[in-house]
Amino acid sequence: MKLNWFKKGVIYQIYPRSFKDSSGDGIGDLNGITSKLDYHKSLYVDIIWISPIFKSPNKDNGYDVSDYSEIMPEFGTMSDFDRLLDKAHQYDMKIVLDLVPNHTSDQHQWFENSRASLDNDYRDYYIWKKPKPDGSPPNNWKSFFGGPAWTYDELTGEYYLHLFTKYQPDLNWENPKVRAAMYDVMRFWLDKGVDGFRMDVVTLLSKHPYYNDIEEGTGFKEIIDCYFANGPKIHDYLHEMNTQVMSNYDAFSMGEGVGVSQHNAHLYVGEDRKELDMVYHFDILENNIVNGKYEEIANFNLLTIKSIFRNWQQVFDNGGWIANALGNHDFARLVSRFGNDKEYHKASAKMLITMLATQNGTLNIYQGDELGMTNIYLKHIDEVNDIQSRNFYFENLETKKFSPEVALQMINNEGRDNARTPMQWDDSSNAGFTDSEPWLKINPNYSEINVEQQIKDTDSILSYYKHILKLKREYEIFSYGKFEEFKKNDKNVYVYKKYTENNYILLFLSFHKHEIDVEFDFDNYDCLTLLLNNYQDVLKTSTGILLKPYQSLIFTNN
Ligand code: GLC
Repeated sequence: MKLNWFKKGVIYQIYPRSFKDSSGDGIGDLNGITSKLDYHKSLYVDIIWISPIFKSPNKDNGYDVSDYSEIMPEFGTMSDFDRLLDKAHQYDMKIVLDLVPNHTSDQHQWFENSRASLDNDYRDYYIWKKPKPDGSPPNNWKSFFGGPAWTYDELTGEYYLHLFTKYQPDLNWENPKVRAAMYDVMRFWLDKGVDGFRMDVVTLLSKHPYYNDIEEGTGFKEIIDCYFANGPKIHDYLHEMNTQVMSNYDAFSMGEGVGVSQHNAHLYVGEDRKELDMVYHFDILENNIVNGKYEEIANFNLLTIKSIFRNWQQVFDNGGWIANALGNHDFARLVSRFGNDKEYHKASAKMLITMLATQNGTLNIYQGDELGMTNIYLKHIDEVNDIQSRNFYFENLETKKFSPEVALQMINNEGRDNARTPMQWDDSSNAGFTDSEPWLKINPNYSEINVEQQIKDTDSILSYYKHILKLKREYEIFSYGKFEEFKKNDKNVYVYKKYTENNYILLFLSFHKHEIDVEFDFDNYDCLTLLLNNYQDVLKTSTGILLKPYQSLIFTNN
């Protein structure tokens, strides 16, 4: 297995709006990030992925780009960016930008030209279709964020496609000019020295040509897999992108793998394919989503998580590579979803990173998870910023599927604002994030959960993250190696060994809020070294080991 820098490296995702405000307008910015690079360095981060920083009207907080070669004024200037890049490189850290190639903002010049007439040079940059004879949209597709995926434009009497909001028209990748324009955007940033791209919903670039109606009753996952993602030309486009752009730079691509499974992942990331360097899969992040976000949430089940990780091992047999994450800006906080954000906050946050950091693949950490930041409780829809949550709420007021109280509760449980509340730096007012009114409510628990406090405390979640990330750098076996699993059917503990020819690590992870007696036949317990423990002690028994609530242990044979 060839381990190059982006396979070994730890990625830290920054949501710039919420990371650190240096200008005093309540919105995080580039200089704020630059001022915290020491922090990343001290955390043993290798690569920083910054969510979109391009000019945008912010209908979807930067995922609606109106100019790919300009910096969002709220975030600063191009010189601020150059300084950030420079300093990161001086610190030996890489910067990865979030490219949004599937759609632009409706305020992008391309779209403004495109919508202006039926026969302009930009008309084919987007996907326009005639109405059905009764004036209704070309098909019954719904957007990811609620409502129809088509919007009628009076001026030219046609509908345009938007798989997300109506402010995010989908680009027409069939058009070679669109592809060339996007490749130019990529070269512009790579020539500046950026080290790669996270590619937003990149699996949606190729559209299924028939635009046929979705059958009534089709589940959300199936809709994505069969109608939206993995279109017939996707691999041609990615191969072209790789050969024309990426392969000319020492940079990597991480595709957001909507609709990617262990069955098709190797088509995207197989080394011989020359498409993407890794995909970011959603099996874990969406494991409890039964039928579309908010609609129906299944209870946490460790057996599901174990089987997902197990199945993903197969991809490596085909020479592929994946990115692992338990949290990002689109999901609720990981400790609130997978752990226990109350009495076992500390132990469970530490245990979860132990699991994630020892799975094969590139580890992605989302800002604030290293502190165990938790979900927030928003009392009223007016406090909710996220367009996906707001659309859900207001659509629901019309359909009356759930009561407004239940809808708000669902947003509190699952909504994206949970992950977007500002970073908690210290216990001063506004958590040290800004000097003025923050753009989004700060989680009131910042007086207990914040960077300053956790730096001082050697037993904090942050200190534990530093420790495990340092170990991950030292022990390549954390990032790759063969996998042997024990107690596969145990719903409360996850026990596995990772090994190479001479070395191994052995892990015990408890997902239980009570002590649990694990029978395990250590044939050489006395020869093992305890590498990491999220409690002070280890309770070895005559038949195995007694795990405390959410305890995690890593042993090694050397
Ligand atoms: C991706 C982004 C998400 C965004 C969407 C549309 O899923 O992660 O934040 O809203 O794409 O660009």
